[in-house]
Amino acid sequence: MVGTEDAYTAEPFVPRRGGLPALRRAAADCRGCPLHREATQTVFGAGEATARLMLVGEQPGDQEDRQGEPFVGPAGRLLDRALAEAGLDPADTYVTNAVKHFKFTRAEPRKRRIHKSLIVVLGATAGKALLGSSFRVTQVRGTVLEEEIHGRPERLVPTVHPSSVLRAEDRDGAFRGLVSDLRVAAQALG
Ligand code: URA
Repeated sequence: MVGTEDAYTAEPFVPRRGGLPALRRAAADCRGCPLHREATQTVFGAGEATARLMLVGEQPGDQEDRQGEPFVGPAGRLLDRALAEAGLDPADTYVTNAVKHFKFTRAEPRKRRIHKSLIVVLGATAGKALLGSSFRVTQVRGTVLEEEIHGRPERLVPTVHPSSVLRAEDRDGAFRGLVSDLRVAAQALG
């Protein structure tokens, strides 16, 4: 484990080369913070590295921790439904989380930049991880942002986290809002 409680860092575990496969191997052994102690396994990203759309969630939940795959629980099922309604093919996405261990308590960029790719930021944790602590999902949801991330220009569409739709009093309205934001992403992809 590296760092103090206030300033843990996974940086020493990040390989300098080798792309996504090397990152996946390194993430499996990451001891950059205490979360690895309780979690069953690292939940890395899933999907094709060449996918035109990357979705970044918060952290794995119980089912993701058991299965080792992101968004395989209720939030993932809702997300798949919302993607389909927005005209986006879940099979053509790369899905990952800002945090890679289930907490019983950062986004892997693709191996190389693909022209016209897009990142959907699912909720505040992913937004703060990618865009900084001043990120407010309510202020920028459903808009296309152009930001530099790890030195590379990226286009991002923030929206709410699918779990917040499951918790919402007006679940249908919240779902429609998520789909509407994802349609912005679909349109931006062209
Ligand atoms: N919520 C997330 O943010 N990620 C998952 O993988 C599952 C639920």
